Amino acid sequence: MREILIQNAQLVNEGLVSQKDILVQGDTIEKISNHIAPKGDELCIDATGLHLLPGWIDDQVHFREPGLTHKATIASESRAAVAGGITSFLEMPNTQPQTTTQAALEDKLRTAKKNSIANYGFLFGGTNDNLEDIKTFDTQRAAGLKLFLGSSTGNMLVDDEQVLRNIFSSTDLPIAVHCEDEKTIRKNLEEYIAQFGDDIPIEKHPKIRSETACYLSSSRAIALAKSTGARLHVFHLSTAKETALFSNELPITEKKITAEVCVHHLWFSEEDYAEKGTAIKWNPAVKKTTDRDALWQALNEDRIDVLATDHAPHTWEEKQNPYTKAPSGGPLVQHAYPALLTAVNQAKITLEKLVEKACHNPALLFRIQNRGFIREGYYADLVLVDLKKKFKVTQDNLLYKCGWSPFEGTTFEGSVVKTFVNGNLVYNEGEIIESALGKRLTFDR
Ligand code: DOR
Repeated sequence: MREILIQNAQLVNEGLVSQKDILVQGDTIEKISNHIAPKGDELCIDATGLHLLPGWIDDQVHFREPGLTHKATIASESRAAVAGGITSFLEMPNTQPQTTTQAALEDKLRTAKKNSIANYGFLFGGTNDNLEDIKTFDTQRAAGLKLFLGSSTGNMLVDDEQVLRNIFSSTDLPIAVHCEDEKTIRKNLEEYIAQFGDDIPIEKHPKIRSETACYLSSSRAIALAKSTGARLHVFHLSTAKETALFSNELPITEKKITAEVCVHHLWFSEEDYAEKGTAIKWNPAVKKTTDRDALWQALNEDRIDVLATDHAPHTWEEKQNPYTKAPSGGPLVQHAYPALLTAVNQAKITLEKLVEKACHNPALLFRIQNRGFIREGYYADLVLVDLKKKFKVTQDNLLYKCGWSPFEGTTFEGSVVKTFVNGNLVYNEGEIIESALGKRLTFDR
């Protein structure tokens, strides 16, 4: 059986950083020890000076397949993901067709099996009229449910109160929600259109997709989860005000209400709109520096549980439209760990906390089997990173199908050196290695 011995790594796992050797046998971690003597026939990797992290489990990506493959494909974006240290992803249902039936889910699983270099899972989409599908789909085959409580790419708004109550009462799966109050957004948008027409200055985006819109919707979802007992996961928090809605009193395994924050809301602020324009137009919007600071604080205080990307590529041409027609979203997976390693170097978060939020917690929250931790017997989804190696984002090192990044020109203070998925080296110092495809994530249910 294929064996890899990683020696002298600074292993970051379960709240500790310690020097270890790790023996990988086939697709799993065979042994973790202070010293493992090589036998001679294994591939030995000297990781002196490097940190070994679990692969990031990104619980929110949009890989656009089927139906929107001019923007991205599972093949292209999964390769960008492993280059960014993401070894597993959960993909969203706002494709064409939407993932709102068992058949559509199976179709995505088939496509991923043939094309994904990373491990894959999908969220099943809820709509105003697919309650029967939600009640009957095979819950072993999807990671959870996704509801858009504010409209975004893909027309999946669920705004019928009774339907929402029925959905929340109908499943024990995690219900991941996009929270922005539609009425507030529409009213704000109408006011700005009256003033500017379609070409609203991008700086107004956080005034349209406002703090109030986020807060109203998040608090309503939380109230509904409390009254129905649903397992709620609020995606991409973007405001200081919302962070107060979440508590740190219970460990993640006991929480019924959790929150996620995304790389872009931790990196950018409204001061960046002038330079970046619609490249940083996201739903929810990037907001004030004070919001960004509060998101960091809530993450470090465990009121926010999960770090993700909300990778949502659109073509550069689409993004150049005037405000009302420029789609929201941007590609991020390739720069997830580099951005966060930079934050580690800037003392915004510790490596241990980063690994907890990006790897351990998504695995615990979605009950993903045998991943998210560096443990004997677990899958060898591993990332070697160099905290001292700088990495500049340029056009020619991008792997996204859309060919652009909101980080172009940025130099990160930290790099992904090697990525292993199920014990296979799939990324090595700038190169994708087509050694093996990823596996379907499985869940403890
Ligand atoms: O900015 C966003 N883009 N937010 C979302 O919720 C959806 C995403 C997309 O799919 O384009």
